Amino acid sequence: MNYKLRDLLKEASQRPYALGHFNFSTLGILRAVVLACRGLKSPVFVGTSEGEAKYVGYGQAAAQISVWRAETGLPVYLNADHHKTFESAKTAIDAGYDSVQIDETALSLEENIEVSRKVVEYAKGVNPDISVEGGLGYIRGSSELHKEKIEVKPQDMTTPREAKRFVEETGVDRLAIVFGNIHGVSAAGNPRLDIERLKEIHETIPDVPLTLHGGSGISDEDIKAALPYGMSNIHVNTEIRAVYTDALRASLDKDKEQTTPYKYLNSADEAAQRIVEEKLKLFNAIDLV
Ligand code: G3H
Ligand code: ZN
Repeated sequence: MNYKLRDLLKEASQRPYALGHFNFSTLGILRAVVLACRGLKSPVFVGTSEGEAKYVGYGQAAAQISVWRAETGLPVYLNADHHKTFESAKTAIDAGYDSVQIDETALSLEENIEVSRKVVEYAKGVNPDISVEGGLGYIRGSSELHKEKIEVKPQDMTTPREAKRFVEETGVDRLAIVFGNIHGVSAAGNPRLDIERLKEIHETIPDVPLTLHGGSGISDEDIKAALPYGMSNIHVNTEIRAVYTDALRASLDKDKEQTTPYKYLNSADEAAQRIVEEKLKLFNAIDLV
């Protein structure tokens, strides 16, 4: 496997497709993602948030990814998703993660720059190939189903000027931006993406691969509209969690006597694989390897 993550992201940012980024916290969901990607010939990110990594184990996650790579030859990259402190980012880097997202978006711009720069310096000192994602803008919600409507306010959004300053002063490899996206799926409908804002950011920092968080619940039309403007990877978590949990509940209800986990988990894993396949097609991330 001779794919460099940096080159893959750069290429994706310059062409109208984006790599998928799918979160996992079970062996079955990770396998579902890998099988979907193998079938569709898609390089991919798999990610663990701090909570997911705590459950799986940082070393375990890194080991599982290297086994999948060896077995399939697929470019599968492990990202530490939304890591909120230098220490947790360092834990992921030391465990062998390929990529880390340092998320200090709750801090002031200056503090965000300071911690993000420190993570870039540390990561590159360990391995120059590690990709570091920084983030700017306030993303509302969380990776679950929300009953209420979630509105994105103008002050939540990333501005082109701050984006330029941020990437210049931190040296991050890619940038997560807010342009209407939220985490999770709202029963009242997710907000629309502000494609004009995305275009302005892309025109201001054309060489920086951009990341779209909160890929669940966004209309297909908006996703397709975003692909040509620097978009390099799109994160999806809630939709996988939802179909997985629904399928698992149905499976347990269907055969109440069943106590063998690999039997009652099968349909949930398959549901996860199907949604990942749908997203890969939507992101146009197929037939790339
Ligand atoms: O970092 C993870 C993602 O941004 C997932 O967002 O749960 O809305 O799909 P989502
Ligand atoms: Zn996210």
